[in-house]
Amino acid sequence: MKILVFGKDGQLGKAFQEVLGVRTSVLLAKPVVQFVGRTECDLANGEALTQLLNQFQPQLIINASAYTEVDKAETESDLAFAINARAPEIMAQYAADHGATFLHYSTDYVFDGEKYGFYLEDDIRNPLGVYGKSKAAGEEAIARIFASNNDSSQYAIFRTSWVYGDGGNFIRTILRLAMDREELKIIHDQFGVPTNANWLAQVSLDLALDEHACLRKFISGIYHAVPAGETTWHGLACLAVQAALDAGAALKVNPASIQPILAVEYPLPAPRPMNSRMSTDKLHQVFASWGDMSKLEQLNQPWDEAVRSYVANLAKDGLI
Ligand SMILES: NC(=O)c1ccc[n+]([C@@H]2O[C@H](COP(=O)([O-])OP(=O)(O)OC[C@H]3O[C@@H](n4cnc5c(N)ncnc54)[C@H](OP(=O)(O)O)[C@@H]3O)[C@@H](O)[C@H]2O)c1
Repeated sequence: MKILVFGKDGQLGKAFQEVLGVRTSVLLAKPVVQFVGRTECDLANGEALTQLLNQFQPQLIINASAYTEVDKAETESDLAFAINARAPEIMAQYAADHGATFLHYSTDYVFDGEKYGFYLEDDIRNPLGVYGKSKAAGEEAIARIFASNNDSSQYAIFRTSWVYGDGGNFIRTILRLAMDREELKIIHDQFGVPTNANWLAQVSLDLALDEHACLRKFISGIYHAVPAGETTWHGLACLAVQAALDAGAALKVNPASIQPILAVEYPLPAPRPMNSRMSTDKLHQVFASWGDMSKLEQLNQPWDEAVRSYVANLAKDGLI
């Protein structure tokens, strides 16, 4: 089997390198995997993307790339749409035309955050900013392409939130600030679920591949993919700082000196949803129907356990 992974230098792309490496290392018949970054293929160049797909001829396409600069997108709309809507549309078209499987990633930012409770996969999209609009356009394009296709091709769009991994993210920013400042002010009225990139790669492959790294048949569509529980940015900052202190990091801040503030007190160019909570019942039902307890356990990992372990690893690696 041939697997093509886009976004190799991003948080999720790096997670796929690790997770796919571990999963396939034990196999006798290893899939051929190619990881692609901006240097190999600029996704703003649709022709180059089509050429790469036609040359490599993947059976599985994993799109871990995206234009993720939420605030900059407000002034770079064309580029955001090229990467987040047009490029996945081209990948989806290739998959649909060639009987391939396509895994793509989307975001809580496709919602306006007005809902009380957890968002479901088929709740109405109403993105607040350009980034969310471009990701919503990507979702719509993929669904449209596969809707008129009934062969062996299939797709999953994993909607996730608050991703952290090997790269720049909220947790690392907080820990860097906590080394220099005596006090931090963090938003406490936006709710969501921090998602570890490695966890997301594992869950994605749990849906798409069996234990021999062969493609599984699944129902095409959107799947919400976040760990168990919920928090606020303030809750996440407090936990990350406590975990770093527990791991022996020298910080000037402790959880008690992290002041909760309202989102309106910290205005940013792009509006953010106040509620990013997403139900993962759909994915639970799929894994439960396969009777696979290990996949359910993976899906049920509490977000705070994963953050503690991530921060402990940062400390072990001398990164805090
Ligand atoms: N990060 C979050 O909090 C979050 C939340 C919800 C959903 N998501 C979604 O989760 C997925 C993975 O996010 P992530 O955190 O791993 O993102 P990331 O770390 O920002 O990685 C995105 C990757 O896309 C690549 N890319 C951007 N423009 C490109 C272009 N023109 N040509 C080729 N490559 C390009 C970037 O390349 P360079 O490294 O060269 O810049 C980067 O490696 C995305 O679909 C994102 O929308 C993320």
